[in-house]
Amino acid sequence: MCGIVGYIGENDTKEILLKGLEKLEYRGYDSAGISVLNHEGSHVFKVKGRIATLRESVDEGVKSTIGIGHTRWATHGAPSKENAHPHVSNSERFSLVHNGVIENYAELRDEYLQGVNLNSDTDTEIVVQLIEKLNNDLNDVDKAFREAIGLLKGSYAIAVLDRENDEAIYVAKNKSPLLVGVGDGFNVISSDSLAMLHVTDRFVELMDQESVIVRRNEIEIRTLDGTRVEREPFVAQLDASDIEKGTYPHFMLKEIDEQPFVIRKIIQEYQDDQDEIKLDSDVRQAMMSSDRVYIIACGTSYHAGLVGKQLIENLAKVPVEVHVASEFSYNMPLLSDNPLFIFISQSGETADSRAVLVKIKELGHRTLTITNVPGSTLSREADYTLHLHAGPEIAVASTKAYTAQMAVLAILAVDTARAKGLELDFNPLQELAIVANTMEALCDQKEAIEGIARDFLQETRNAFFIGRGIDYYVGLEGALKLKEISYIQAEGFAGGELKHGTIALIEDGTPVVALATQESVNYAIRANVQEVVSRGANACIISMKGLDRDNDTFVIPQVHELLTPLVSVIPMQLIAYYAALHRDCDVDKPRNLAKSVTVE
Ligand code: F6R
Repeated sequence: MCGIVGYIGENDTKEILLKGLEKLEYRGYDSAGISVLNHEGSHVFKVKGRIATLRESVDEGVKSTIGIGHTRWATHGAPSKENAHPHVSNSERFSLVHNGVIENYAELRDEYLQGVNLNSDTDTEIVVQLIEKLNNDLNDVDKAFREAIGLLKGSYAIAVLDRENDEAIYVAKNKSPLLVGVGDGFNVISSDSLAMLHVTDRFVELMDQESVIVRRNEIEIRTLDGTRVEREPFVAQLDASDIEKGTYPHFMLKEIDEQPFVIRKIIQEYQDDQDEIKLDSDVRQAMMSSDRVYIIACGTSYHAGLVGKQLIENLAKVPVEVHVASEFSYNMPLLSDNPLFIFISQSGETADSRAVLVKIKELGHRTLTITNVPGSTLSREADYTLHLHAGPEIAVASTKAYTAQMAVLAILAVDTARAKGLELDFNPLQELAIVANTMEALCDQKEAIEGIARDFLQETRNAFFIGRGIDYYVGLEGALKLKEISYIQAEGFAGGELKHGTIALIEDGTPVVALATQESVNYAIRANVQEVVSRGANACIISMKGLDRDNDTFVIPQVHELLTPLVSVIPMQLIAYYAALHRDCDVDKPRNLAKSVTVE
């Protein structure tokens, strides 16, 4: 949520900042701004809306070699120009960008800023006014900045410019991500490495509550007590072309199409020379010795976790509970004696999941993160990490990360089963290879799936997705995809549960997408379809070859029964994509959302 960039060097800053912000737009896109310094003073440009609008508002004539920028996802204060960052102190000396939530902003305002005029509804403005206030007392910006940071509670990544000093950007973070990028004669800051790959691939990680001064040729990191810290940069293992759309109209479509490659990459990464599973032996040991696995995740990753439960319980015979992170934090169930916690998170930055991780670590339990971003907060803070190898996922709606999560969970489940000496008639790497081919075949049927979106969803205001067992979990994901990008109200439901109330919503023409990929419930789900059809529903049946019947709407090729979610979700993703496209929705950047949800 919210993206931050900064630059200090020899070149004109504006274009570098704007390009970086365009790459960070996935983190929030309701308002944006930049602040740059030159010999005339500080220049701030802010707009409500996207970076494209900001670009139009920036005065080309203003030249500068130091600046900071921000793209916002509103938390405190509505999306507006006034609430957009950078926020400026009353004397206009300091300008500041912030990602996160300052939990004690009201206390700080009441204690330190009595009589100070505030110009926005944000928690962020409090920080910039506080720095000015402390500097007025201390007459030392460095000290004032450090003291202000010490007073903040909550999550933040912060960058500050001082109009009186065009040689430094003041930077700090707590819980929210922020990196310093290292260049030759310049340095940058960025919420993630992707955004600044156009200028550098070397980055220095910052730790929580360090106070950092970024200069042209130096990065000065100190702890809050002033102790100097030296840290070597790492090289980001990313290719700039991974974050371009190429010939695709949308990142979402590109990422749907990338799924077969991602599955093959996972096979390659988790296979040894004998074609057997290769997995960190500490992870194996942690799985082997746990009496219960708790999967913690949000949204799409939670849906992958539900499938993970089926895989681990069926194959490895370890009991699994799956919890929505934001609920678990406040409503923790009784835990088993020897639990292992698995955090599933594409971004590795989700604040709700991190809040659970922090609590679980305090309790002394073991933790494993399954993520697409190995250097992310959840990855760094957990005991072990399994990498998804899905490549950057830019579209807000998650697609390839979801299938990658389920593939890695399948490998983990089989590895545990084998380590426990259980007999299995299931070779996950071979079965995943079949899945990858099947995904490819499905991605080639876009026209047919676009037809389904047109036939079933063109006019509707709502839709239902039903299934039983593992198909129910895919239905939840199908409904989430549809609602988040097309704004059609959609619900995923267990097929047998509709008749206990929700069937009252079925009327003439209500679209009901039913999944039928599981032999054991094929009869039962079809009976549920009849129940809704006889009440007027427009039923779209997506079945698996071998279980299909005449007049099914779409038949997917056969894959192993436990891995059907990896393929049955592809028509769901494409249906959502085309439904959104037909409604002229902004597929990659749906309203009110952001890619990485770093606030609780
Ligand atoms: C939906 C979607 C979200 C995320 C959720 C968790 O398409 O992407 O529901 O799955 O916000 O994010 P991560 O996986 O980054 O923890």
